[in-house]
Amino acid sequence: MKKFNLGIIGTGWPGQQHAIAAQTLDDANVYACADLDETRRGEFKAAYNPTKAFASYHELLNDPKVDAAIICLPNSLHFPASLAALEAGKHVLCEKPPTMNAAEMKVLREEANRRNLM
Ligand SMILES: NC(=O)c1ccc[n+]([C@@H]2O[C@H](COP(=O)([O-])OP(=O)(O)OC[C@H]3O[C@@H](n4cnc5c(N)ncnc54)[C@H](O)[C@@H]3O)[C@@H](O)[C@H]2O)c1
Repeated sequence: MKKFNLGIIGTGWPGQQHAIAAQTLDDANVYACADLDETRRGEFKAAYNPTKAFASYHELLNDPKVDAAIICLPNSLHFPASLAALEAGKHVLCEKPPTMNAAEMKVLREEANRRNLM
């Protein structure tokens, strides 16, 4: 069975909680992570052993093996990162709040619907 490849964007405490949860799933894999902070990225790699670790989340989203992005960035980055992920053809799970306002959420919903992504 092909495992669903997850890319965790933001490797602080919230990103690590998602990695811990993903490790309990039979059909998903912590395939990649991205974080600007080299120390945090290194700690995440040591703990969860992703195949790929990127500084830039854009590079993670360019990896065709990533099926879904789990976005655990500071709140102001939720909208641009979620939109970039959808535009790259990835499913998105984003930490709360998903956007800073309803208009941004509408953009994401429309983009996801248009691409048949969740
Ligand atoms: N669900 C929960 O219980 C819960 C609890 C705490 C926080 N959160 C949410 O999780 C999100 C993250 O919280 P936080 O900011 O306190 O976590 P954090 O500071 O621990 O982690 C955020 C990480 O993002 C990285 N980062 C910042 N900008 C980046 C960029 N442009 N590219 C790549 N990496 C970047 C930082 O280096 C950091 O490691 C927030 O949206 C917050 O609301 C949820």
